[in-house]
Amino acid sequence: MRTLTGIQPSGTLHIGNYFGAMRPAIEAQSRGECFFFIADYHSMTSLFDPAIRRQNTLGVALDWLACGLDPKHSVFWRQSDVSQVVELMWLIGTLTPMGLLERAHSYKDKTARGISPNFGLFAYPVLMAADILLFDTQRVPVGRDQKQHLEMTRDIAIKFNLTYGDTFVVPESEIREDMAVIPGLDGQKMSKSYGNTIDIFGDEKATRKKIMGIVMDSRTPAEPKPDADKNLAIQLLKLFAPADVALDFENRLRAGGLGYGDLKKALFERYWNYFAAARARRAELALNPDYVESVLKEGAARARTVAADVLQRARRASGLE
Ligand code: TRP
Repeated sequence: MRTLTGIQPSGTLHIGNYFGAMRPAIEAQSRGECFFFIADYHSMTSLFDPAIRRQNTLGVALDWLACGLDPKHSVFWRQSDVSQVVELMWLIGTLTPMGLLERAHSYKDKTARGISPNFGLFAYPVLMAADILLFDTQRVPVGRDQKQHLEMTRDIAIKFNLTYGDTFVVPESEIREDMAVIPGLDGQKMSKSYGNTIDIFGDEKATRKKIMGIVMDSRTPAEPKPDADKNLAIQLLKLFAPADVALDFENRLRAGGLGYGDLKKALFERYWNYFAAARARRAELALNPDYVESVLKEGAARARTVAADVLQRARRASGLE
């Protein structure tokens, strides 16, 4: 079973990204073959600063390697290092109806927010389909926001197969309906655009300040709190502490006697320790960007051998060869 997913090089990652997408992807490594790439071509639709793109790409590579992506087991590369994907985008783009792209939610949302669209933004789903089809991908685990993009990928693959003969594996989407929605510092869904995030590798002092600043109600520590399970710090603590420890805090909060300050202190400590090993690994890797680059280059070489095969199949089927 081949699993593939693309990772946007969008700067610092937060714990919502971690529990929602990264950890499940990293766990998938123990169940089969994994292809992971950094979608730097996609970032070009909305980011126009080359230094930041370079920095984000390295940053995301460090984050994933530090969090347990194993480059011996998985194929990990930078999208633009396997530029065959752009050729495939053209081959399938010519079979993609305009109407399909015009109906894309992500495109409509972005233009509705006043972003002036470029061709790349409009073609985004075709490039994403090419990413998936170029590697004979069977499973694509993604969040709900990508569901429509995957349906488009399937439509495009089926249309190509009907037009030119059986060429592409039609991938299954694995939409994680159960995907944990991680609450942010204000209780809304954690999201960069809400400014309510806790970074995975945040600065110690700043993150402590953020966590200690979570707004609670004005009940005194002694008061029993029958709604303890809904307390935001308790919910976050459950991500980082063993179940029995988190439950103990919840029970103490419910009974009365545990102050919010002490609870938040415990939350910070648990958060900090949870990522301690990954933080140390990341710091070590960051000293050695050449190693990271070599991992990506080696991954690209492995990815390219699969890509070359599939692309040739598509070129032959469509009469280019
Ligand atoms: N569009 C995806 C996102 O925003 C990133 C992505 C690009 C991707 N190509 C992909 C995800 C292929 C899965 C498969 O998160």
